[in-house]
Amino acid sequence: MSELLDRHRAVLPNWMALYYEHPVELVHGSGSRVTDSDGRTYLDFFCGILTNMLGYDVPEVREAVERQLATGVVHTSTLYLIRSQVELAEKLARLSGIPGAKVFFTNSGTEANETALMLATAARGSNQVLAMRNSYHGRSFGAVAITGNLAWKSSPLAPFSVHYLHGTDRQLPAFARLNDDDYIAACADDLRHLLAAGAARDVACLIAEPIQGVGGFTMPPDGLFGAYKKVFDEHGILFISDEVQTGWGRTGEHFWGFEAHGITPDMITFAKGLGNGFAIGGVIARGELMDGLPGNGISTFGGNPLSTTAASATLDYLLDHDLQRHAATLGSMIIGGVAEAAGPLAVVGDVRGKGLMFAVDLIDPRTGAPSPALATRMLEETRERGLLIGKGGLYGHALRMAPPMNVTEADAKEGMGILIDALRAVDAEAAR
Ligand SMILES: Cc1ncc(COP(=O)(O)O)c(C=O)c1O
Repeated sequence: MSELLDRHRAVLPNWMALYYEHPVELVHGSGSRVTDSDGRTYLDFFCGILTNMLGYDVPEVREAVERQLATGVVHTSTLYLIRSQVELAEKLARLSGIPGAKVFFTNSGTEANETALMLATAARGSNQVLAMRNSYHGRSFGAVAITGNLAWKSSPLAPFSVHYLHGTDRQLPAFARLNDDDYIAACADDLRHLLAAGAARDVACLIAEPIQGVGGFTMPPDGLFGAYKKVFDEHGILFISDEVQTGWGRTGEHFWGFEAHGITPDMITFAKGLGNGFAIGGVIARGELMDGLPGNGISTFGGNPLSTTAASATLDYLLDHDLQRHAATLGSMIIGGVAEAAGPLAVVGDVRGKGLMFAVDLIDPRTGAPSPALATRMLEETRERGLLIGKGGLYGHALRMAPPMNVTEADAKEGMGILIDALRAVDAEAAR
């Protein structure tokens, strides 16, 4: 393994971080479990960063892909009709709730957000974009420009003029004493002030994650985007909901994250989970926005027969098995169980989440400050006990977890038990 690690380091970028002191190579997967090249099996509660939404080796997805492979056609380009692409777009347009929706397929979330930003700035004739503090939307030039998290800001250059809104920062002293309604009102007032103070007459859009992924599953109170949307509607400002992590019912209570805010966005961007590992992303937008670009456009690989076939099979499986409801049931069991167990643990600052998307903040028990070191420790302790989890947050102190949406109750309980056990061990160690 160390030989592969050396080779990795020699030829791959150093800004592409690997987890664990001794990084893992996953070579086999089935259900919610993966096996590494040393033969160790783990429960996977991070799923390739929320991408293996149905876990591993789902026969319905595998067989659909095998049937497509057997046709001999993996790629045709969008110069020709692609039946699986049209069918998937029809399903997504219907599920989006956006009137007259059209869909453009890409290969990643980054490209999806680039496209949405291009549509919004073209429609509004403006390069002024609003984003949330602590946000992450991808790694391209444009996506990095709207990133509200310095650790992921690879370039200071920007094609946009960007202003960052409040909404995911209520732990700040200025907001901490406010209840949800007052915090939302304060944020909306700040937005009005920002616009009045000259952010511009012609802001193109807000792009926002309903629950921030890289940002550590931080989220605004339900309704915040509804309050923002009221202000936007007065100005014609468009709303892009980045559902790359929050879509498909993962949050349990809704199919899309934005629904917690009582709004319908102008555009939805998606990627990660839809293909259950096959590369697919895209934008769902109101038809006139989608059609509003002045130039031609294609994405060579975007929406190819293989990825759209995999995505359709994944989506059908998800809907047929009502995995949104499953996520709600098992999610509240795990979040409730972890929150209860964390009560007496001084290293836990917060337990939060919705459905099968939940996080635990690690803090220094003496100072209460975010502790990335303890979060790193937790990654090792959970791995040691056979559970893979993720990490994130502005200060790198949030443990992020998102089991497959079809995780069994037994696996959910086992993973929760391991997490709690590891938290207790880290708490005991920190108290010494
Ligand atoms: C909310 C969100 N948007 C966009 C992206 C970028 O997606 P990709 O890595 O597929 O380009 C990510 C990736 O983590 C994400 O979490």
